[in-house]
Amino acid sequence: MSTTAQDTVPRIELTRKGFITNYPPYRYWRPETAQRLLDPKPLNIYVHTPYCVQRCAYCHYKTTTLNENRKAEIDRYVQSLCTEIQLASKRFHLKERPTHSIYFGGGTPTLLSKENLSRIMDCLREHLTFADPEITVEGEPVTLIQAKADHLKSLGVNRISLGIQSLADEIILKTGRRDTEKHAFKAIEIAKGTGAVVNVDLMSGLAGETDATWAYTVERALAADVHSLTVYKTELYANTEYYAGIKKNTLELPSDDEELKYAAYAIEQIEAKGYLPVNFFTFTQGGGHMQRHTTSKWRGDDIYAFGVSAFGSIGSFSVQNISDLEKYSSTLEAGELPIARGYHLNAKDLMARDVVLGMKLIHLDRKAFRQRYGLDLVRLCEPMVNALVEEGFITVSDERLSLTRKGILWGDYTGRQLAAAVDAVAS
Ligand SMILES: C[S@@+](CC[C@H](N)C(=O)[O-])C[C@H]1O[C@@H](n2cnc3c(N)ncnc32)[C@H](O)[C@@H]1O
Ligand code: SF4
Repeated sequence: MSTTAQDTVPRIELTRKGFITNYPPYRYWRPETAQRLLDPKPLNIYVHTPYCVQRCAYCHYKTTTLNENRKAEIDRYVQSLCTEIQLASKRFHLKERPTHSIYFGGGTPTLLSKENLSRIMDCLREHLTFADPEITVEGEPVTLIQAKADHLKSLGVNRISLGIQSLADEIILKTGRRDTEKHAFKAIEIAKGTGAVVNVDLMSGLAGETDATWAYTVERALAADVHSLTVYKTELYANTEYYAGIKKNTLELPSDDEELKYAAYAIEQIEAKGYLPVNFFTFTQGGGHMQRHTTSKWRGDDIYAFGVSAFGSIGSFSVQNISDLEKYSSTLEAGELPIARGYHLNAKDLMARDVVLGMKLIHLDRKAFRQRYGLDLVRLCEPMVNALVEEGFITVSDERLSLTRKGILWGDYTGRQLAAAVDAVAS
């Protein structure tokens, strides 16, 4: 005999008793949960500098070069940043929250004058509450001179991230940058001398790369003995010189297979030297020197982003500032916040975001996911999890889902597949 839909629907006893005042009922409510509400939530800060020495051939970021003297323009931008910090702090009560990390990104923040760096930092100190924050500054080697590094140290900067990309001079030359291996090593020594944690960015798959040039870059980067090494896959974007060169048939990039081979080689060499992955593109000595800002970002913690085109996320909102420099400043001069657009993540979006960004941190905590959403991720999208295990991208334990070496190499593939499965199940 076959079962009908009626057989499977539980019978509901008809009763007028049991008035519902709350869900879930009081018996589940705890004092420690109330305390969690009262505790101020940690805050992370991003500050954008849109200026660069040059426009690198591969770079897609919204930046502008400094060909002529633009001191007045930069001073105006820094004034706008300070106004934004003041307005946002008041509007969103940012001073009530402990600031755990500050990230000066770009562009090239090390291009800012000592005076302007001090002005921004003074403003942050006045309108935020510093809780012994990790303070990172991104920089290009040619811009990190000793006096600038000493100044960064005096401002409390404790992490310096240098864009090196390649240590083979002939490859760097093709990107339009003015750095050389010599500049890079000088900058690394200066950065280390400040006592800060030093990260070096490399890019696998730059134009002209060969097995020999890449092996040289990796070998020299390891010889630099920095705390942290980041290997980005070169991504091709329409707003770059690389893209224009490919369209005109004047430039060729390494194929996807070659790029994958370079990335695999770098990971093998880096791990052999005792570096461990802390996310799928950054490796730190012994897995230490955790990067608080990036880790917070991939965990979906709050990041307030200041500056032109800067994007951040507060609660379940993602927001981005105005992308036009003139409009950014004039909006602030009129006393308004320069937020241009936003997205409100619904419950399903938040779940998918936790998966796609969380997977970047190599391990995704099943318990944390269950606590947040009341669902077990593995049971929620079992066929996809099984397929990813079978194809060798992840391993699964009771505690977590972890990327394998293959998963690390394929970047966001795993996160994207899992997030799509979460999205499909929850639809
Ligand atoms: C915003 S830049 C800041 C660093 C600094 N401006 C410099 O270039 O020295 C941060 C990093 O993004 C990476 N990057 C830029 N364009 C990229 C692309 N098209 N694909 C992959 N990584 C890229 C580079 O490794 C760069 O060091
Ligand atoms: S890679 Fe760095 S220096 Fe080059 S254009 Fe991009 S942000 Fe500027």
